Amino acid sequence: MENLTKIPQHISIIMDGNGRWARQRGKNRVEGHIEGVNSIRDVLRAASDIGVRYLSFYAFSEENWGRPEQEVSFLMELFAQSLLGEKDEMLAGGVRLRILGNRARLSAKLNAMIDQIESATAGGDRITMILFISYSGQWDILQASEKLAKRLAADPAFVPTAQDLSDGLVTAGIPDPDLLIRTSGEQRLSNYLLWQCAYTEFVFSPVLWPDFRREALLDAVREYARRDRRYGKIDGN
Ligand code: IPE
Ligand code: IPE
Ligand code: MG
Repeated sequence: MENLTKIPQHISIIMDGNGRWARQRGKNRVEGHIEGVNSIRDVLRAASDIGVRYLSFYAFSEENWGRPEQEVSFLMELFAQSLLGEKDEMLAGGVRLRILGNRARLSAKLNAMIDQIESATAGGDRITMILFISYSGQWDILQASEKLAKRLAADPAFVPTAQDLSDGLVTAGIPDPDLLIRTSGEQRLSNYLLWQCAYTEFVFSPVLWPDFRREALLDAVREYARRDRRYGKIDGN
């Protein structure tokens, strides 16, 4: 296999363009979501092969609840079915699965399934795959702030640090993304990991998510390897 020089520890992906992919083929939008699951599987294998430790996906935003009821319920059903369908391959591949977001808005059935698959894969030590479902960055910062407010109420001398806020986010303990990829040509964050992307490198790909496979991921990693991350300093050291 090609020797890729700089492998991001955490790659995060805003999977976009499923609806347009379907429309281009005269299909219903949901066909794009179905094909998008195949992209997730392929990209997960590729990321695992090159030694990525965390691979996360924006699967459903808080704002996506505003889509037509039919599409929302189809997506919820697709999440449940895919979790079940992919479980064996995840276990075999050493994948630890985590689902992060506003769990209170998910059905009891989906929540139970998530608990079950998270504990079944908890021993996966090759790669952690994170699905953000019913997630938004502002919601995450707000719920972390509420925790800080409680601590402050209990102890007025407490002076919160940035680390304290990070520790209250749903991503606590997970390194911030090194590389964020958004597909389909859109160049915005759409309320994704607002706090966690403070120093993330962004790669925007014109490819629609259902067409985004191994080679496209490797291209993004090559692009990442050419970047000079300076973190506000002069020379990257
Ligand atoms: C991304 O594809 C999947 C989700 C947001 C759930 P879209 O459904 O946003 O597809 P486009 O952007 O309409 O093409
Ligand atoms: C962002 O895509 C959300 C996910 C990929 C889950 P959207 O398609 O919802 O974003 P906008 O509306 O184009 O910003
Ligand atoms: Mg979209």
